[in-house]
Amino acid sequence: MLILAIESSCDEFSMALVQDGTTCLMMETLSQVDLHAQYGGVVPELASREHTKLFLLVLDRVKQYLEDDFTSVDAIAVTVGPGLSGSLLVGIQVAKTLATMLNKPLIPVQHIMGHLYSVSLTANIEFPYLGLVVSGGHTELIYCASEKEYQLIGATRDDAVGEVYDKVAKKLELPYPGGPLIDQLAQTGKPTYSFTTPKIDDEFAFSFSGLKSAVINKINQAQMKKESLIKEDLAKSFQDFVVKEVLGKLTKALKQYDVKTVGLCGGVSANTDLRKAFLALKATYPKQKFVIPEMQYCGDNAAMIGAAAEHLPALNKEAYLQLECSPNLTLADYNHKYQN
Ligand code: KG4
Ligand code: ZN
Repeated sequence: MLILAIESSCDEFSMALVQDGTTCLMMETLSQVDLHAQYGGVVPELASREHTKLFLLVLDRVKQYLEDDFTSVDAIAVTVGPGLSGSLLVGIQVAKTLATMLNKPLIPVQHIMGHLYSVSLTANIEFPYLGLVVSGGHTELIYCASEKEYQLIGATRDDAVGEVYDKVAKKLELPYPGGPLIDQLAQTGKPTYSFTTPKIDDEFAFSFSGLKSAVINKINQAQMKKESLIKEDLAKSFQDFVVKEVLGKLTKALKQYDVKTVGLCGGVSANTDLRKAFLALKATYPKQKFVIPEMQYCGDNAAMIGAAAEHLPALNKEAYLQLECSPNLTLADYNHKYQN
């Protein structure tokens, strides 16, 4: 199938043409990161207002690629949630309009499923599949027995990994989004600071608020005592701890779940040390395939929505005209609503 996919759940407006869930023919993504950086984080009202301005530019690129002829497109796909309601609504409205004008079915996609399937733009996913999604809004470990069975086996109890990166970066007076900048600092730092591992009753659950407070306290103490703090060393110590925590849970899951493919997805999967340590797991688990999407498919993008849509049910006109955004849509909600 050739799918025209749309992703607008946060501060990117992205459209892509994806063939058979594996090949991205073209993608155009307009990010608003510079706009939101002035405020230190995403401002939801501004994000949706910007989307209403940007979507036409992105759609124009698709039209150019297709030379104004949409006949080869088999379906339209769009993120329905989770995400910011105003932002989601713009994408959904564009999708409904295109589906109606072009007389094509519409496939609603859950955002995390998109991240999980971003892996299939790099390598074929063999099931059972274990996906670790680490982004600004999510830290989730998902076991997929087959294309239709998603089981959330671990999630964060508090902050998402990317969120902690961004908050620590803010405290270090680095611009938003701070994740890539901390990663950069860490490359020349030494792990001289230590942090304590959180105690959680659930072996697969994550928690990062303790780490966040510990790092912020170290910065505050240094400021109060007028001591100099080596940002690179703090960044490296923080990053090493995050990598150990995240991959520690993944390894536990690998001992319990017999899987064929393991994927690392979401914005934080762009992290240098996390990528290296994830791929190094192959030495211990030689039978499994370890896959990280290409950089352009790590953060929010429409190609991953097109890749997921290939495996999901399409709605006819009567059904898709009723489609609403679902800002808190979980994988279980999605299955319940659309897969049965
Ligand atoms: O997936 P994404 O683009 O958006 C969400 O769905 O949240 O992820 C964005 C997050 C931000 O928190 C950003 O700081 C983080 O990914 N990020 C990184 C790196 N690149 C992006 N975090 C750590 N290291 C990186 N290299
Ligand atoms: Zn995302």
